[in-house]
Amino acid sequence: MSAPLLSIRNLTVDYQTDSPVRAVNNVFLDIRPGEIVGLAGESGCGKSTLAYTVTRLLQAPAEITGGSIEWRRDDGGITDVLSLDGPDLRAFRWQEISMVFQGAMSALNPVHRIGSQIEDVFIDHRSGLNRRERRERAAELLRTVGIPADRLRSYPHELSGGMRQRVMIAMALALRPRLIIMDEPTTALDVVVQRNILEEIDRLRTEFGFAVLFITHDLGLLLEISDRVGVMLSGRLVEQNTPDVLLENPSHEYTRHLLRSFPSLRGDVPLTGSRYIDSGEEVTA
Ligand SMILES: Nc1ncnc2c1ncn2[C@@H]1O[C@H](COP(=O)(O)OP(=O)(O)O)[C@@H](O)[C@H]1O
Ligand SMILES: [Mg+2]
Repeated sequence: MSAPLLSIRNLTVDYQTDSPVRAVNNVFLDIRPGEIVGLAGESGCGKSTLAYTVTRLLQAPAEITGGSIEWRRDDGGITDVLSLDGPDLRAFRWQEISMVFQGAMSALNPVHRIGSQIEDVFIDHRSGLNRRERRERAAELLRTVGIPADRLRSYPHELSGGMRQRVMIAMALALRPRLIIMDEPTTALDVVVQRNILEEIDRLRTEFGFAVLFITHDLGLLLEISDRVGVMLSGRLVEQNTPDVLLENPSHEYTRHLLRSFPSLRGDVPLTGSRYIDSGEEVTA
């Protein structure tokens, strides 16, 4: 097994409010290169807080009160993520790790064309590309996520929800990061569009080799797409296993409870395709 890309050790995060909340409690999690790790758990269990901690986007009143996060660089050296600062932190975000947020579809600026928003990623990160090169890269990225390049001139409202989500994924891919964190990226979408986007992500992963941390409350979805699945409950990662082991032999009572809430996953119903309409057409949101 290859060395982990990301190692989260003993991580604890509190919201220092009037009655403090321990949102992440003593979490250990490794992500290896190219792996899809799923993170499931009901709303409020701490999934987004964990994602924001890894990308160092956490803001007050949240406070990291314990643990460490290590990142293995391409040169084999280790970066202490929690002590990154200034330009190093900027470079880490997007170039090493990028994130597709919950509700990312609405994160696009409504008054700018899609193309210029993608190009801004290259400008913001001083990629050294000239204008023509930026435009070419933006077109290439759009095609990568299955959108015709002539859509560069479109405004966000001219695209369907699924297409807007693909644009966000294209932006997350722009600087070729080694880990992409997706926090409920597809929940607002039609199931058919969800499925198309997930297939796209899997294809892109095969092509580019990045790892994915995929967060959702939908355990059934994770069992289909992940190499490994973690289950969170009240800030704790109570179980981590391959989908097979998790389905056959869950070790935690809460996992069994989550599995019971997906009746279609019991018995001999095939997982793949069983929960979706198998159509290649994207539905306009
Ligand atoms: N800004 C905040 N201030 C205080 N508590 C917060 C804040 N954001 C999240 N929390 C609390 O932290 C816990 C975890 O939230 P979150 O990470 O958003 O969970 P999830 O993404 O799994 O739904 C919840 O109990 C939530 O109420
Ligand atoms: Mg969340």
